[in-house]
Amino acid sequence: METSELDRSKIYKSWEVDGKFHSDGREVTLLGYVYSRPDIDQLRGSPQKVLEAIDDFARSVTGLINIGEAKGAVVTKLIADCKPATILELGGYVGYSAILFGDALRKAGGKQYHSVEKSPLFAAVAASLVDLAGLRDVVRITVGTGAEGIQRLYDSGVLKSQLSMAFFDHHKPSYTSDLKRCERLGLVGPGTVLVADNMILPGNPPYAEWVRASVAEKQELDKNAEEKGSPNLQYKSRAIKSWEPSGHEDALEITECVGIEA
Ligand SMILES: C[S@@+](CC[C@H](N)C(=O)[O-])C[C@H]1O[C@@H](n2cnc3c(N)ncnc32)[C@H](O)[C@@H]1O
Repeated sequence: METSELDRSKIYKSWEVDGKFHSDGREVTLLGYVYSRPDIDQLRGSPQKVLEAIDDFARSVTGLINIGEAKGAVVTKLIADCKPATILELGGYVGYSAILFGDALRKAGGKQYHSVEKSPLFAAVAASLVDLAGLRDVVRITVGTGAEGIQRLYDSGVLKSQLSMAFFDHHKPSYTSDLKRCERLGLVGPGTVLVADNMILPGNPPYAEWVRASVAEKQELDKNAEEKGSPNLQYKSRAIKSWEPSGHEDALEITECVGIEA
């Protein structure tokens, strides 16, 4: 596992406030904080400055469950290297990763960043911040669970061919079933890169098992599985250790589909 240094000056305030980690009004407070900044005009059209404003809020007011700068840098480098045309994100929260990775995708010549978010309130906050960052043409937000969002985007013809990249950052038990849905729909194929967050905090053994398994092992796993995938896809997977913005250690699982066994 590779790892990077933790910059302690960038640590967010605690996520936990009175036993809650989100949904206690902090997401709407964030929106008010951003739009009432004296430098609001400099934020317009600047993904970097909007991200800095979100980071400022999380360092001075209340912690937010964003991917943050350290893990974010691992993924933006991957986007610059892979130059994806389309990225699907599951779990958008207030739009931090959509702004960071949507900007990286645009810089790398890509077209569309699809962000699926279960909470309509979080999706509305994200849409406002994405618009402020000038990324309205790149980032498209869909309200629904991962399963609903993937299926709706597929059925409507918006997602019709292989994804360049998918980013899993939502309900941890749904990572594997949502990946399998993408596999069955033909959205994963040779060249697709899968990025999964929170592989240490809290960890996701079923997902790690699936993406690290050989074709033969996946065929065996799928026999008794409720949700079937496409076991013949060949994956090459590795974990990259990094840091939550809270300062806790975490890892991203980066998986490349390298072929299909006949
Ligand atoms: C850790 S946050 C995502 C953070 C975001 N990717 C970022 O780095 O800025 C997880 C998000 O997943 C959403 N979520 C939870 N269950 C979901 C599901 N089944 N499908 C889609 N989103 C879900 C939550 O509402 C929350 O906003």
